[in-house]
Amino acid sequence: MNSPTICWQRGCVKLIDQTKLPNKCEYIICRDVKTLWKAIKVLSVRGAPAIGVAAGFGVLLGMKTFKGDDSKKFRKHIYKVSDYIATSRPTAVNLFNVLDRMKTVLARHMDLSVSQLKKILTDEALAIYEEDRRVCREMGKHGASLIKSGQSVMTVCNAGALATVDYGTALGVFYSAKESKKKFKVYACETRPLLQGARLTTWELLRAKIDTTLICDNMAASLMKKQQIDAIFTGADRIAMNGDSANKIGTYSLAVLAKHHRIPFYIVAPRSTFDRKIKTGRDIPIEERGREEVISFGNRPTAPKGVKVYNPAFDVTENKLITAIITEKGIIHAPNKLKVNQLFF
Ligand code: MRU
Repeated sequence: MNSPTICWQRGCVKLIDQTKLPNKCEYIICRDVKTLWKAIKVLSVRGAPAIGVAAGFGVLLGMKTFKGDDSKKFRKHIYKVSDYIATSRPTAVNLFNVLDRMKTVLARHMDLSVSQLKKILTDEALAIYEEDRRVCREMGKHGASLIKSGQSVMTVCNAGALATVDYGTALGVFYSAKESKKKFKVYACETRPLLQGARLTTWELLRAKIDTTLICDNMAASLMKKQQIDAIFTGADRIAMNGDSANKIGTYSLAVLAKHHRIPFYIVAPRSTFDRKIKTGRDIPIEERGREEVISFGNRPTAPKGVKVYNPAFDVTENKLITAIITEKGIIHAPNKLKVNQLFF
């Protein structure tokens, strides 16, 4: 992407309003924490790594409203701001990992003044931003080794530049494969109900001039059966320490289908998407979103008003269905507790 999905600019957070894509590419300028919280909540900024970066910048926005030079009060204020940001969305662990990182910085520097603390928090948030750019490119290189020219791959939701600062996790693999001159096709699942695949993934892949075909989610099985898919690459919102991975609803069904059709199924995610406090996928909190997302399309109702609706935003794919997890540190084949733990040593 030419300009980043999210950045820190003149004391504000500038982000692409993804709810408007693909019709308009507009930016939102967040000058306060509330506006940023809402941007996360309504998915103007979305995708686990981008939400993490947004959380770091959110702390900086919160910092601006603190007046005075009492560093004890300043710490309390930052904890309060962090707790508030943490209520925006529950599943992407990058959000909580970044907030923990910002708090750890405070805890490590008990002797500093308020202005010094403001400076190190700013440095930390900007370091998180730069790290995202670097690790996405590293994952891209590792993952591209798994794609051969002539192959067709599938993805779901949007794990691209729009879900990170500017490159992507699963789509970063495709960008890297393209940079090394491989020729391949991508099938993008539309990703009901909010259509991140149709609205966002195809938008960014077309801009990158990657051969892209959009399918409805319920067409994936038949494409696999026709042997038209060689591999599936998706992102993740939270990975448990045994490799079980939560990602956009519908990912699990793709993994089951992939197993049945003997197609490799890859998760592409940085170490910041692992939850070191969670042993298995059973403990991953799954966000449930509002009924209106399911019973209407644009402003048009697509179901009778009174119908009951179930709308989980994510599902969990067990490690045994995952061929490998691609991280910035390399590829973990057949992920399990032992191999995932080794990532952190
Ligand atoms: O609800 P969303 O759009 O935030 O869901 C995003 C996903 O499920 C992505 O696949 C995941 O965050 C990985 S993004 C690199």
